[in-house]
Amino acid sequence: MCGIIGYAGKNNAADVVYKGLKRLEYRGYDSAGAAFMLGGKITVIKKEGKVETLAQYLNNVSADIGIGHTRWATHGKPSDINAHPHSAGAITVVHNGIIENYSELKERLISDGADFLSDTDSEVAAHLINEFYKGDLTAAVAQAVKMLKGSYALMAIRAGESKIVAARYKSPLIVGYGNGENFCASDEPALAGICEKVCVLEDGDIAEITADGVNIYNGNLQLVIRSVLPNLAVSESLGLGDCPHYMLKELREVPQSVQFTHKAFYGVEEKLKSALSGVNRVIFTGCGTAYHAALIGKRYVESFARIPAEAETAGEFRYKNPVFGAGAAVFAISQSGETADTVEAARLAKAGGAKVVAVTNCLRSELTRIADVVVPVAAGVEICVAATKSYTGQVAALYLCALTLAGEDIGGWRGKLLLKMPELCKKAVESIDAGALAQLCASARGVYFLGRDIDYAVAVEGSLKLKEVSYIAGEGYPAGELKHGTLALIDGKTVSIFIITDGGLAGKTENAVEQVVSRGGKAAVITNVDGVEERLKDKADYFIKLPECDKYLSPLVSAVAVQLIAYRTAVMLGRDPDKPRNLAKSVTVE
Ligand code: BG6
Repeated sequence: MCGIIGYAGKNNAADVVYKGLKRLEYRGYDSAGAAFMLGGKITVIKKEGKVETLAQYLNNVSADIGIGHTRWATHGKPSDINAHPHSAGAITVVHNGIIENYSELKERLISDGADFLSDTDSEVAAHLINEFYKGDLTAAVAQAVKMLKGSYALMAIRAGESKIVAARYKSPLIVGYGNGENFCASDEPALAGICEKVCVLEDGDIAEITADGVNIYNGNLQLVIRSVLPNLAVSESLGLGDCPHYMLKELREVPQSVQFTHKAFYGVEEKLKSALSGVNRVIFTGCGTAYHAALIGKRYVESFARIPAEAETAGEFRYKNPVFGAGAAVFAISQSGETADTVEAARLAKAGGAKVVAVTNCLRSELTRIADVVVPVAAGVEICVAATKSYTGQVAALYLCALTLAGEDIGGWRGKLLLKMPELCKKAVESIDAGALAQLCASARGVYFLGRDIDYAVAVEGSLKLKEVSYIAGEGYPAGELKHGTLALIDGKTVSIFIITDGGLAGKTENAVEQVVSRGGKAAVITNVDGVEERLKDKADYFIKLPECDKYLSPLVSAVAVQLIAYRTAVMLGRDPDKPRNLAKSVTVE
């Protein structure tokens, strides 16, 4: 997803905007740009490639107003000309979102004489604002956004007007308050250490930001009041520390993610209990890694509460005209709380009369404004595009949600098992050496992750993680399905990684290991079940030992193993695990 940042104030806008763009890099991007105004004149600098590319052009720039943009291409390939900002006349704009009706608007604007330079949808916004401008930028923006369909978080400036006008609809945007300076950005990390007070704009809001203050209006330009909140992102926690990558740093933070999420749950337990009373069917939904947590949530509810449960990817769920019925609850799982498909799935569920529970790491996100109850994941800011600590936090939260649905006391024996997990996660992070297995994966033609029941849910997560950060093809598969297809792919150039944490199913999965090995495939086993390694010692090539724990809580340690394998393989291949190609931290557009 794109990221935008704006500044109006007494310091040099070039410094503030550049720092902000560096903070926004984690969202995933392919180009970056900025526009600066001083003495009524606007300078635009925009380039394909990394934010650092801009640095050389900023050395002599001093300005009191600036807007910046990291672009994750949706319409128009990554290029200098398609990078933001986009200008029309004296108007310059940055935009995060998708303007779904841009083609018809562009056609009309061109027929009225507009001269388009880029292939982007966003440039339409600049031309519309320019067309509506009659001396007041705020009014022009208010009129222009009424024409837009889709989603936008945008900022506009105009030569000669010392303000930034921002607008948001279905794309995140906050304003930040300083002393003699004010800010606007896509998220709180962009302003971490820069300003302490923020305000989350709501859909339809239009904000006027100057050095002296911020005014927020609704679409009819009536002033509205929005809460001023502390900036939850703290710059100290955003550094890499002694880690080479955020992915490793955040894997090391898995123990506290589980621990703090457990603690945070006590604050929401009663509200969740009353919201879920009478629920007789549960649907878990999310995207990417959050969907894999959904698969585990489903098994928890079926096992502990004996209530029918299903897990659906949000992109499928929201378009299948789902049946809710009385007694349905939908758990929308999302690290960012801004993923378009998950947010819209939650909106659909709400409209369908279901109880909506948000399970998210971002407590001021759009998803939290839709849900009846918000169950916090307390993982802290997650910078790496690939989710790790937020996933384990989600699993811990879902475990507690399922206990609550089952009417169990979360301080009971199952809750006590969870209390032990942070220590076992720490042991896993510190003891697992995935180097040799990563070496094997790095040169494999395909890597397959296999498991049964809950181990299958972690197998698909392992496969996604490896694909995300190392770009190696592969698949996560139910071990019982191996002989129905994937076995045809197995040969000496493939690696099959088996997850075995359920003693009751171990023998079945050990058979699958034999099937792979007898066809020349390389095999690795991740397990904490006694006897497995002994029985397979002459078959499998590698073993990763997990700390022993209850089988339902095993994903908290087996996920660490598969995510470490992915991380080590990516680094071995010289990939950047934090900013994998083509991917974004959260896809806020459809
Ligand atoms: C992808 C991220 O863009 O979105 C994944 O790269 C993530 O890591 C997925 O799992 C869903 O994001 P979220 O914020 O809804 O959990």
